[in-house]
Amino acid sequence: MSKCKTSAEVGGMGHSIKRKEDPRFIRGQGNYIDDVVRPGMVFMDIVRSPYAHAKIKSINTEKALAHPGVAAVITGETLKEYNLHMMPTLMSDTQMVLPVEKVCYQAQEVAAVVATDRYSAADGVELVEVEYEPLPVVTDPFKATDKDAPIIRDDKEGQESNHIFHWEAGDKEGTEEIFNNADVTVKQDIYLPRIHVASIETCGCVSEFDSVTGQLTVWMTTQAPHAIRTVLALVAGHVGLQEDKIRVIAPDIGGGFGGKVPVYPGYVIAIAGSVVTGLPIKWIEDRRENLQADSFARDYHMSCEIAADKNGTLNGLRIKTLADHGYADAAANPSKFPAGMFSICTGSYDFKNAFVEVDGVYTNKPPGGIAYRCSFRVTEAVHAIERMVDMVADEIGMDAADIRMNNFIPKDAFPYKSPMGWEYDSGDYHGALKLAKDKIGYDELLKEQAKKREKGELMGIGISSFTEVVGAGPSKDFDILGIKMFDSSEIRIHPTGKVIARFGTKSQGQGHETTYAQIIAEELGIPVADISVEEGDTDTAPYGLGTYASRSTPTAGAAGAMACRKIKDKSQKIAAHLLEVSEEDLEWEVGKFSVKGVPDKSVTIQEIAFAAYTNHPQGLEAGLEATHYYDPPNMTYPFGSYIAVVDVDRDTGEVKVRRFMAVDDCGNIINPMIVDGQIHGGLAQGVAPALYEEISYDDEGNITGGSFMEYLVPTAMEVPHFETDKTVTPSPHHPLGAKGVGESPTVGAPPAIANAVVDALSHLGVRHLDIPLTPEKVWRAIHKQDAA
Ligand code: CDP
Repeated sequence: MSKCKTSAEVGGMGHSIKRKEDPRFIRGQGNYIDDVVRPGMVFMDIVRSPYAHAKIKSINTEKALAHPGVAAVITGETLKEYNLHMMPTLMSDTQMVLPVEKVCYQAQEVAAVVATDRYSAADGVELVEVEYEPLPVVTDPFKATDKDAPIIRDDKEGQESNHIFHWEAGDKEGTEEIFNNADVTVKQDIYLPRIHVASIETCGCVSEFDSVTGQLTVWMTTQAPHAIRTVLALVAGHVGLQEDKIRVIAPDIGGGFGGKVPVYPGYVIAIAGSVVTGLPIKWIEDRRENLQADSFARDYHMSCEIAADKNGTLNGLRIKTLADHGYADAAANPSKFPAGMFSICTGSYDFKNAFVEVDGVYTNKPPGGIAYRCSFRVTEAVHAIERMVDMVADEIGMDAADIRMNNFIPKDAFPYKSPMGWEYDSGDYHGALKLAKDKIGYDELLKEQAKKREKGELMGIGISSFTEVVGAGPSKDFDILGIKMFDSSEIRIHPTGKVIARFGTKSQGQGHETTYAQIIAEELGIPVADISVEEGDTDTAPYGLGTYASRSTPTAGAAGAMACRKIKDKSQKIAAHLLEVSEEDLEWEVGKFSVKGVPDKSVTIQEIAFAAYTNHPQGLEAGLEATHYYDPPNMTYPFGSYIAVVDVDRDTGEVKVRRFMAVDDCGNIINPMIVDGQIHGGLAQGVAPALYEEISYDDEGNITGGSFMEYLVPTAMEVPHFETDKTVTPSPHHPLGAKGVGESPTVGAPPAIANAVVDALSHLGVRHLDIPLTPEKVWRAIHKQDAA
């Protein structure tokens, strides 16, 4: 990043300003869903299925209704009267709100109890009597399409198997030809297990319906309030909930990470309940419900192959994937991409050709496939390619850094068209890996490793040189349920030069109140302290698609810059009027227009703002404000090179990440301190699946990993120390040259650690291990025992 253009007092791009939102969080004065209290509010709790697949023979609500405090019990039959027992998923599949015929996964919502306090609601849940008739279960996606597998979605007309979709990208024949003529081919099955975002705040809402005005207000843990409002209007318009009567407010959110994009049944039941009863209803999941029933991430079984020359030139890539979607395709991908951005899987390398195919299947598990801190399946793609490049290096006896350096897309080849059709905007992959190597002392580490091996100690060095694709997205390709994925900003300058700016996105901890203010400060020279940023209220914010997949900076951030430029254009007219010169005679420097060659003759943006309301030129509209809906011309392609150093305990299989060097490039940086925070948090969420986290199911569909007793979220004790550095390669098409950053570390870290652990064991004949690299799994690999 070049020197800051603005002073520290103004605080534009490049200043490490402390987050404006933090004083309220640090003082415990945030306003989360559970802080929302409405007069006469009642509480909802949910009855959940103990079975993974079972017919519902009967639901007896009598005892629950007789319990003191219980006001209502809502079942699928109640909702069916209003045709609200089913809802669409974001992938245009359907999903039960509450079941009428059968349940399809353990912990599925079966009924809801509304009571005057939360404890009575929980007591009521215990008293609802449900008679189930268990049905055969399928949890293994490889068996889901067997002839004798139970058909899970027999409610869908024409659905005669558990197959959901087949999707492919690339050049099948061209890639096959490369494989037929290859010196070396390497093949590996790689599984990225089901994991959960496990954000600190679980999901919840408060729904309030005013039966006199017909106004519905929903305070909701959502990353995309506008899209949710539109979906609510489409689903419930027939019962009178039209879009102008719906207000969705996303207050402070304690972590989203993609898990707060989908609409969960609990939200819809609470909304329906508040409309039917006329009472404000609060619903908040507990931790187990959150882990067991909300959307999962990953669960990709990838069969990967690379064709290479014997000198290590990577030529062809082929990946065949089985995606386990659970009982509904409720992923949150753009419509055109059922496998998200998985076809970015050629990564940072200049492959001649590639072909990838993905099949989605139903199983008796919760639905999902969300983009957990990841741009729609990029984590899966990066894991596959970064593991495979290491495997080729191992096969031909080449250094893991050298094979990358030899195959990176060269700096001068950007904009670069990948064999999958993506146009990478800019990159300097050699620069990032070189910096990471220099900083960590790669050559010294290799020598240390050789010495340790002689002594029988297990030390590994793992590299991941990832390319991301964020900022969804250009409207020609990207929509969710038909709504194009632009984003927006509305900036209003008051007469005293203070600013209120509203955006279509919604921060869940990323610091937008600070960084968006910095963008405006950069463009208009108005101090960050004078700029208030608001998001998340559909009654006030301009329409946008929300915050996920690191899209806020590439889309809404760009919209902010463009809105400022409209304001600057109008300011120039007002300045010309005030200084009695023509517009062409003026030049802009931070915060003021001055007459060319006469720098003393100038007006500040604050003076211009005052004049916009008190002395605007005749014929020009009064006021100083602008709105911009930004449709990005391309995605942005952040990248980085990570190097992990691990020590493995031969006797226990325990992996210690001794060092972790992360070099990231997200183009021009708005706030270096916030970017560092994003990288630290993201790395922690990359270490987590690499070493600890997994949700799995037994053959009967019982969940393992459904509470924090078994689902090991790393604490400060487990998270290693991170060393970070940056390179800066601006995006050529973003108005500020910025790219997204939030998810890069979560995407890049797992393969660095996996590669390091395999490297530590490679001389023992270990070629690959699936994450999480638990002590047991690693111990078995060292001692040549099969996984349990
Ligand atoms: O969509 P989300 O906010 O999660 O992701 P992002 O656009 O990657 O931004 C995460 C945070 O990092 C925001 O506060 C951004 O403004 C900030 N950021 C930055 O300061 N400079 C960049 N080049 C990219 C992001």
